[in-house]
Amino acid sequence: MNYRNLGKTGLKVSELSLGSYVNFGDFLDDKASTKILREAFDQGVNFFDTADNYSNGKAEISLGKAVKGLPREAYLISSKVFFPTMQGVNGRGLSRKHITESIHASLKRLDLEYIDIYFCHRFDPDTAVEDVVQTMNILIKQGKILYWGTSMWEPYQIIDAIRYANNANLIPPVVEQARYSMLTREEVEKERLDICREQNLGLFTFSPLFMGVLSGAYNNGIPENSLLAHDDYAFRRGRLTPKVISKVKALAQISMDLGLSTAQLALAWLLRLPELTTVITGASKMEHLKENLSAINQGEKLTTEVLDRIDKILSD
Ligand SMILES: NC(=O)c1ccc[n+]([C@@H]2O[C@H](COP(=O)([O-])OP(=O)(O)OC[C@H]3O[C@@H](n4cnc5c(N)ncnc54)[C@H](OP(=O)(O)O)[C@@H]3O)[C@@H](O)[C@H]2O)c1
Repeated sequence: MNYRNLGKTGLKVSELSLGSYVNFGDFLDDKASTKILREAFDQGVNFFDTADNYSNGKAEISLGKAVKGLPREAYLISSKVFFPTMQGVNGRGLSRKHITESIHASLKRLDLEYIDIYFCHRFDPDTAVEDVVQTMNILIKQGKILYWGTSMWEPYQIIDAIRYANNANLIPPVVEQARYSMLTREEVEKERLDICREQNLGLFTFSPLFMGVLSGAYNNGIPENSLLAHDDYAFRRGRLTPKVISKVKALAQISMDLGLSTAQLALAWLLRLPELTTVITGASKMEHLKENLSAINQGEKLTTEVLDRIDKILSD
């Protein structure tokens, strides 16, 4: 495993990490989640991502059980707050009240004393950014979180938070978590890369395989036992357009030439960016996890010529 610096925090994060959306507390029982997490940990993965709303809190419970007994200093855990998780009009968002209630519930479900990195899952237009920065600083002072970050915040919203924190002598966000894959490039490449570089902000990326599509698993229809075969995810089948599938098939030709699977090519391609801290992968099958973790150290195969071939397919 390779480790990358999270901005200037001194934290080292494995360049491939494991998320718990859908797989933990939903597709997998606790025993199977533990097996997946322990395999990842044994292969050097030291960061595990979750959120208060994943599987209605069951993902945090399952993740907490999976790390039980591992040395606390050997791994990093994140969780997130914003989406509705509680009854009533105040059971959501980034108000100090909801954040306080949500962090208590998350720590209880995870059965941990603190969360390493706490994300504001989205920007909340109803809460002043100054209030959010202050609340995060209170949680840091209380020892409930160590660092905080944003997810899918617009660059100007992140800048507002950093500016206010610096002026008020408070701790600014240290990382942005954003969607990024071969099929979803804009939000990172056009909107967030510059600010991450300029502000020394960590960049964690999610949905690296476009929820599995970039592995080629859907090239010939929807296999039984796949995410998109599941009724709850039927609404995402719209992703499987003929154009997308033809791009994935063209990428498969390149990956074959390089001796990689299509999923490995898609992950190795993400890792080419030095600004990126970690790619948060999602897998519920052991063979997928192992295949994905083998995407490290493949960078030398991505020559300028290969990158040009990939760009041509993606921009068509
Ligand atoms: N901040 C946010 O708003 C946000 C949003 C979404 C996700 N996330 C985080 O990012 C993590 C990853 O996102 P994601 O789940 O969308 O990632 P993803 O890797 O794009 O999609 C996961 C899907 O890909 C399949 N898959 C993975 N590796 C495969 C392989 N080698 N071959 C074939 N299929 C493969 C998985 O199937 P199997 O399950 O069958 O292995 C699963 O259905 C989440 O767990 C979560 O922690 C954050």
